[in-house]
Amino acid sequence: MAKTLPKSGTPREAVMQQLRSLHTEDAKWKDGKTFSLVYFAGDEVSQLLKDAYSEFIAENGLSPIAFPSLRQMECEVVSMAASLLSGDDDVQGTMTSGGTESIMMAIKSAREFGRKVKGIKRPHVIVPASAHPAFDKAVHYFDVDYDHAPLMADFRVDVAAMERLIRPETVLLVGSAPAYPQGVIDDITAIAALAKKKDLLCHVDACLGGFFLPFARKLGRQLAPFDFAVEGVTSMSADLHKYGYAAKGASVVLYRNGALRRHQFFTYAGWNGGLYASPSFCGTRPGGAIAAAWAVMHHLGEEGYLTRAKSILESTKQMQDAIRAMGLKVLGEPVGGVFAFNSDTVNVYELGDAMDARGWKLDRQMNPPALHVMVTPAHAGPVLEKFLADLKDAHSKLAAGEPAPDGSAAMYGMVGTIPDRAQVDEFLNEFLDGLFSRA
Ligand SMILES: Cc1ncc(COP(=O)(O)O)c(C=O)c1O
Repeated sequence: MAKTLPKSGTPREAVMQQLRSLHTEDAKWKDGKTFSLVYFAGDEVSQLLKDAYSEFIAENGLSPIAFPSLRQMECEVVSMAASLLSGDDDVQGTMTSGGTESIMMAIKSAREFGRKVKGIKRPHVIVPASAHPAFDKAVHYFDVDYDHAPLMADFRVDVAAMERLIRPETVLLVGSAPAYPQGVIDDITAIAALAKKKDLLCHVDACLGGFFLPFARKLGRQLAPFDFAVEGVTSMSADLHKYGYAAKGASVVLYRNGALRRHQFFTYAGWNGGLYASPSFCGTRPGGAIAAAWAVMHHLGEEGYLTRAKSILESTKQMQDAIRAMGLKVLGEPVGGVFAFNSDTVNVYELGDAMDARGWKLDRQMNPPALHVMVTPAHAGPVLEKFLADLKDAHSKLAAGEPAPDGSAAMYGMVGTIPDRAQVDEFLNEFLDGLFSRA
């Protein structure tokens, strides 16, 4: 591990060799062994992303004046996203570095709306308990008050409970399409209607679904409305670097109109370094991420996205049918390739460890304990068959009383029993300290 900057440089090929060797311990996402973090659309798409990214590797999206190319690409990406999500010509947005930044911008805009339009000093937002922690991070960063609304038995947010949480300072209600944990879509029509009735904003987090659900619907999947077609929805987040298959660092945040988006911008006219105008959270905005998103959308087109959505829907059905046939339970009614499953008979964390030992990385969930799956085109065909064969083998061995291999089951079991969340937070902080320690 290097501790200081090397005195003299290393030749390019040697540096590249070192870089490649660093991959050795990484998750084998290309083989479909992981179920999150990477959305692989094939080698050809990967190469296009690399080419497009390198073409604009130096350009900076902070200045659309210096780089009109990036301005044009960003406007096109935002327009394509808006039209996929039933937005009309009034819908405006920006690209961001990812789901978290899109959500942070939506929360910041709601806060400014609350302060400037409604005169509320300390705005309050209501977020489903299943919503991504990016909302918790955003309210933390922007010092906004919030409540989590509880879920119903089907894992959708309880809209009646949401209504009870509304107070005079409330400015925003949130729904997910779908939520990460169980892959179910909240009742967006009901949330947006409630928001409209109470004169509030309504944000739909479609980070996962924004570039998947429109195609699933076109393929005939029956879906409750979740986008700008629903009256009362005022903003949406949708990640290009997930099911949009873009390079990492690309998402969009969209607003019903330009007046709402205005609350997102940051400007500062008092700096002796010049006039400063920044559309989103980051200062410098990597041109490569914008160019790669633009390139993949043009390259795949509707047909390319439909082909991939079809593959995901088919693999998911095959996977869920097999999982149910093994006696395992799929939680709720997931709408696409994101879902969770658990078991009444075996410890799912031990099942996760047994799958780890077979090379598969499934994320663990709590409340209720479950394993999480995120199907992508990389999981089709032989990968799926091998996965299901391994799952069946691991499950039947555990059910027969064979001990699970060592893994994280004990830790997850223990964490689930600690009533004091602050204690778990402390544990997670220590974990981060250790992970990023230079020693
Ligand atoms: C529903 C949802 N929203 C937001 C995010 C945050 O996205 P990112 O990790 O790109 O910041 C995720 C990430 O998985 C997500 O699933």
